[in-house]
Amino acid sequence: MEKDFSLRELNTFGFDVKAKYFQELKTPDDVRLLLENNIFRQCFDGDRVLILSGGSNVLFRNDVYDGFVVYPNFKGVETIEDTGNQKIIRCFGGEVWKDFVDFTVAEKLYGLENLSDIPGKVGAAPVQNIGAYGAEVKDVIYQVHTIDLTSGKTKVFTNEECKFSYRSSVFKELKVKRGELRERGFYPLIFAVDFVLKKNGELKLDYGNIRNNLISKNITNPTIQDIADSVKEIRKEKLPEVGVVGSAGSFFQNAIISMDKYLKLKALYPEMPSYPVNGQEVKVPTGWLIDKAGWKGYRENHVGVWDKQALVLVHYGSGKPLEIIELMEKIQHSVKEKFGIGISPEVNIIC
Ligand code: EPU
Repeated sequence: MEKDFSLRELNTFGFDVKAKYFQELKTPDDVRLLLENNIFRQCFDGDRVLILSGGSNVLFRNDVYDGFVVYPNFKGVETIEDTGNQKIIRCFGGEVWKDFVDFTVAEKLYGLENLSDIPGKVGAAPVQNIGAYGAEVKDVIYQVHTIDLTSGKTKVFTNEECKFSYRSSVFKELKVKRGELRERGFYPLIFAVDFVLKKNGELKLDYGNIRNNLISKNITNPTIQDIADSVKEIRKEKLPEVGVVGSAGSFFQNAIISMDKYLKLKALYPEMPSYPVNGQEVKVPTGWLIDKAGWKGYRENHVGVWDKQALVLVHYGSGKPLEIIELMEKIQHSVKEKFGIGISPEVNIIC
């Protein structure tokens, strides 16, 4: 266990936040020892434990996390089942997400190509049901292996038990609020994820930019590799490079509004993009709302709004987390004033 451990390299915002206690876990034995650690137990009972993975979707509110950060870093990739048209591949949580996707693409397995180059680690992918370019990880997750930090027992969550929804799952609630698992005294740490991937499948090209990107390269009969390459190129154009500019990808969730509100706004802004959710609700890209409210490219001291994608807040270095929080609040206020829409962070804000 480390004390006053700097998390600078472990959050993609790049804030120099310290964890009062920190423990990396590499083997099941490390978990057993952790559960016997008195300091850990005290922090756990006081609800001051944070499971940190790639740190690409977190913002620490304060300069010190006054609790115990657990950093699971289990490694390994193995084929569990190979039948007919599908393979089930187990990937341990500490593997880097984009390397795992590259591996499945190189193996010519369908399912993860649209999720190329997303920062973070495999163990965090189910937590917020990562999604991009017309795909969501929930569609290829077979099951999730966890260890309960309360009892030390293992539990496998089937896809259905994960209760996936847009950018959420049963695991996400652990971080945001106590959630139903905590109420049952259950606190799962994800140590591996089983993915079910197809040897022959359909490519998802419907996301506008993918088709355009392929057309620009004269590709008419794309392979999985072509899709992965297109996604990587599109991401590079729009999103700040991890490790170069501090960010956590999309800072806000896209807004889901009532049909009534949507129709009123559409009359005012006919160019407003939208995606249908169901008969009563419509999803509106928050990036568009923030952009339209005039924030794109805005900079204030060490933080700002990315000039190629207004959904992304960035930290240019030497700043404090509070600067991002203040910017977030200003943007929320401004979008509420202009469009009457409340927007929520997608990033986990840790107090
Ligand atoms: N838009 C603007 N101005 C902007 C940004 C966006 O007008 O500054 C418009 C775009 O023109 C487009 C629409 O808003 O019509 C949607 O934008 P985009 O396609 O870039 O995607 P997004 O809805 O902003 C979501 C995910 C991203 C994911 C992309 C691509 C969320 C919160 N974000 O963004 O995920 O990469 O789709 O599929 O759902 C992440 O979670 O960290 C992330 C980057």
